[in-house]
Amino acid sequence: MKNTFGQSVAITLFGESHGQAIGAVLDGLAPGIKIDESYIRTRLSLRSARSNISTPRSETDQFEFVSGIHNGVTTGTPIGIIIPNMDTKSRDYQRTEHLLRPGHADYTAYTKYHGYQDIRGGGHFSGRITAALVCAGAICMHALEQKNIFIGTHIKECAGIPDDAFADYRSNAAELEQQIKEISTKSFPVLNDIQGELMQEAILNAKNELDSVGGILETCVLGIDAGLGEPWFDTLESVIAHGLFSIPAVKGVSFGLGFDFADKKGSQVNDSPVMNNGKISFLSNHNGGINGGISNGMPLLYQTVIKPTSSISQSQPTVDILQKKNTTIEIHGRHDPAIVHRAGEVVNAMTALILCDVYALRYGTDWITK
Ligand SMILES: Cc1cc2nc3c(=O)[nH]c(=O)nc-3n(C[C@H](O)[C@H](O)[C@H](O)COP(=O)(O)O)c2cc1C
Repeated sequence: MKNTFGQSVAITLFGESHGQAIGAVLDGLAPGIKIDESYIRTRLSLRSARSNISTPRSETDQFEFVSGIHNGVTTGTPIGIIIPNMDTKSRDYQRTEHLLRPGHADYTAYTKYHGYQDIRGGGHFSGRITAALVCAGAICMHALEQKNIFIGTHIKECAGIPDDAFADYRSNAAELEQQIKEISTKSFPVLNDIQGELMQEAILNAKNELDSVGGILETCVLGIDAGLGEPWFDTLESVIAHGLFSIPAVKGVSFGLGFDFADKKGSQVNDSPVMNNGKISFLSNHNGGINGGISNGMPLLYQTVIKPTSSISQSQPTVDILQKKNTTIEIHGRHDPAIVHRAGEVVNAMTALILCDVYALRYGTDWITK
């Protein structure tokens, strides 16, 4: 039963979708980090991304810091974050309480918690819990930006519709930086807004067909130092993958060219080092900024696959766990026809938490404020 992640900077998540509140404990952050509440509110609003392509559940995400922050800065002790749940409609779930929702954690949670789990709104497995993660991650993301480390995630693909690619770091670093800053404030984070319109149309079409769609997020981190990551088992790739796979609906993670490496030749994908003014960089970045599990100083680049939302209103076969018989289910609660645009902010938050952790492991807790 492990709800804590991170070694030096660690987050613990708690709460259920329809419980009194959700929250997080963020431990190990340096003292003296400035808290910008309006920045945190912006990041939370990007996760909630309210519109006709998202759930009608309307949470204001009024976060409260109950410890670890005084006079607008971190004290260095555990930061307690509480976000009350305001807009719960548990009645939606009572009708189907004993029916295992396909694609959800209903059966697996039942096997693990013997039926004692809070199933309302997906309970502890709900995407709702990610609001607390985003709140904690925003503290880290803001602190990293003061160190010139910028995280940006775009929707690389949604419902099979592609976005443009990130600008090339070597030939166009300024444009890449501009792109990252722009997408990190967009509620539908795409590089090409025309493609974004097509994606949103596809999401609406899926909604009208009582269905849902998925997609691929791509994250780029600029400004990261070489030398981060702990081989063998806490390589930078493995901790990032660990964090990302903890996010509900994430079903794939790849780095750099990822699965596209498979049909390439070494000569096409080797990243050659080059010396420039006494500093090493690389002629290409097919490995996504990581070799041997350690950052090489190039931008981090990785992809996260988000599955189509499981809750759909079409009739689907399932099992009534109480009566132990086969039946069908139609899910009529309030749901997102796609999660991918909201999950981008969760990926940013998780990335920020991980980077604060790996930097603290290498350079000590106070690195972030020096
Ligand atoms: C921000 C966010 C919002 C989500 N909203 C929904 C939703 O409205 N409906 C749904 O079926 N799943 C939603 N999910 C995903 C489910 O929580 C997840 O698919 C489910 O718990 C099963 O876990 P798994 O897909 O990781 O196996 C959301 C996930 C995230 C990250």
